[in-house]
Amino acid sequence: MCGIVGYIGEGNAKEIVLRGLHRLEYRGYDSAGVGLYDGKYHVFKEKGRIDALEKTIALNKASLGIGHTRWATHGRVTKENAHPHASYDERFLVVHNGVIDNYKTLAERYLGGKARKSETDSEVFASLVASFAKDHPVDVAIREVLKLLEGSYAVLVVDKENPGTLYAAKHKSPLLIGKRNGGVVIGSDMMALVGAADNYLALEDETFVRITSDNFSLYDLEGDILPYRLQKIDIDAFESDKGEFPHYMLKEIHEQPAVLRRIITKYFDDSEVRIDQALLQKIKMCDRIHILAAGTSMHAGLVVKDMLETFALVPTEVHIASEFAHHPPLIAGNPFFILISQSGETADLRACLTDIKQEGHPSLTVTNVRTSTLAREADDYLEIHAGPEIAVASTKAYTAQIAVLTILAYALSEQSFDLKRELAEVAQAMEQFLDKQEKIRPLVKKYLTKPHAFYIGRGLDYAVCLEAALKLKEISYIHTEGFASGELKHGTIALIEENTPVIALISNAKTAAYTRSGINEVKSRGANTLVIACESFQEAEDAIVLDDVNPTFAPMLTVIPTQLIAYYAALERGNDIDKPRNLAKSVTVE
Ligand code: F6R
Repeated sequence: MCGIVGYIGEGNAKEIVLRGLHRLEYRGYDSAGVGLYDGKYHVFKEKGRIDALEKTIALNKASLGIGHTRWATHGRVTKENAHPHASYDERFLVVHNGVIDNYKTLAERYLGGKARKSETDSEVFASLVASFAKDHPVDVAIREVLKLLEGSYAVLVVDKENPGTLYAAKHKSPLLIGKRNGGVVIGSDMMALVGAADNYLALEDETFVRITSDNFSLYDLEGDILPYRLQKIDIDAFESDKGEFPHYMLKEIHEQPAVLRRIITKYFDDSEVRIDQALLQKIKMCDRIHILAAGTSMHAGLVVKDMLETFALVPTEVHIASEFAHHPPLIAGNPFFILISQSGETADLRACLTDIKQEGHPSLTVTNVRTSTLAREADDYLEIHAGPEIAVASTKAYTAQIAVLTILAYALSEQSFDLKRELAEVAQAMEQFLDKQEKIRPLVKKYLTKPHAFYIGRGLDYAVCLEAALKLKEISYIHTEGFASGELKHGTIALIEENTPVIALISNAKTAAYTRSGINEVKSRGANTLVIACESFQEAEDAIVLDDVNPTFAPMLTVIPTQLIAYYAALERGNDIDKPRNLAKSVTVE
C-alpha cells in the first residue's frame, strides 16, 4: 500500500528517494512521483512502475526530495492523482499515505471554491496548509490542519519558500525517521531508510516533525517538544536483493529451510525454549486464546490453533481481523489475544488492537517487523525472523509464523519432547523437496489447464488447502478454492466437470483414507487429480511425494509444493509474480 520517502542533506536526495521507493515497491502501487529541489523545485509523476518515472527525471542531483508510491483509494489511477500534490497556490508540496475521512467537509469549509487538480484527499491537505499559512507560521499552520483531520496520515510537506526544511507528521499510518551525519531520511518502513541512515526512530501517532539537513525535532500537535531516543539500524541492506533468483517469491520460497533453522537458533538455548517467562505466565492465566489475523497470516493461525489446543490445552479461536473489528463475537472469561501479522501494519488488526486495549485484555503480536506499529502497541511481541519479505504473496512468513507459534505452544505445555529436532527434520524435508523443484513446472502445465481449480484435504491438510488456494488465485488469477474434502459432496462437487484440476494434500494417518475417498469421488466425475502426499501415505499415481515428518508439523512442509505450484502457474501465464494485480503488501487502510 502507498509508501513515502523523504530526504534532506548532503547526500543525493534523488538517488536516496528513488532507491527508497524501489524498496517500498513490494507494498504494491499503481503510480509514483517525486518532488526534488536542486536550487528550484521539480515534480515528476507517472502511472505504473517507478522505472517509467525514473526515465522522466531530468536532473542528476538534489539536496531535498520527497517521493511516493500510490495505491489508489481516492480517485482513479491517473498522473494527476499521483503524488506529490501541490497546494492551490503552488507554495507547498505534499506526499501522503493514509485516508483523510473528512476531506470533503474540510474542503468545503476552508477552501470554498478553490479549484482542485486531482480527486484526492491529499491535495486538499496541501491546500489547507497553504490556506492556514496565510495567517500562521508554517509549523503552526501544519499542526492546526492536522488537528482537523479525521482518519490516518503519514505525510511529508515541503515549503517552496524554505527549501532548508522538511516537515512530517504521522497518525495511524507508519513513519520512521533515520539519521546519519549530514542527512535525515524518513519513510514508511525500515527498507526505505537502510543505506541512508545509521540510527532510526519509529514515530508515534500524532507526532509532528521539523527536519533540517543535520537534525530533527519532534513535537506533539500543540507544539510541545517530545523527547526521543534513536536506535541502531541492524538490517543488512543486501538481504533485500534477489540474488540468483528471477523473482523475490522464488527466493523467499527457497529461504524457508534457513528461516526455520534461524528460528530454532533464536528461540532455543540447547533444548530450553527462550521465551520471556512473564509472557508465558500471562498466557497461562487465560482460559481462551483468540487469534486475530488476515489472509495468509490468518491461515497460519488456523494451523497454530491446533498446536495451542494440543500442546498448551487452551481452547483457541481464530478470527478474521476485519470481521472482528466491526462485528466482534462474545468475549467471556479471561481471554488472551494473539495478533499475527507479517508486516505488523495491517489496519484491520490495528482497529482490533485498539478495542482490545480499551477493554484491558492482554495482547501479543507475532510479526516479522520488530519496528512495526502492532509490535510496538501490543503488550508483547515475538519476532518471526523471516528476514524482509518482498514478494507480495507471503510464503516464508507463513511457515515462520507457524514455527514461532509452535514453539510458544510447546513452551506453554507440560509436554517434553525434542521439538528442536522435529523442527530441524521439517527444515531438512523442505530442503530435500526444494532440490527437486523442477518437477513442479511440468505438473503445472499438465494439470492447471482450466480457469478454476480446487485444493482438498482434511484436518491440518485442509488448513493448508486454504492457504494453497489463496496463493494460487492471488498470483496466477486462476479461481481456486480450498475445501474440506468431506464437505465437497454437500454441494461443491456439482462444479466438478471433465478435467477440473483438483489437488489433494495427504499428510496424516487419521484422515488419509477419507481424503482418498474424496479424490475418488471427484475423479469419477472427470476431475484431473494431483496428489501431494507424505511418503507413508504414498500411492503409485501420486505426483508429489514429500519426506515423512511429524504430522503435527507437516503444514510447514506440505505448503511448499503449493507455493511452487502457484509460482509456476503465474510464470506460465506471464503474470507479474512479485507484484500481482490489485494487491498491496502492507494493507494500511481498513
Ligand atoms: C497473501 C498475503 C496477505 C497477507 C495479509 C495480512 O499472500 O500476503 O493475505 O497475509 O494481507 O498481512 P500481514 O500478515 O502483514 O498482516
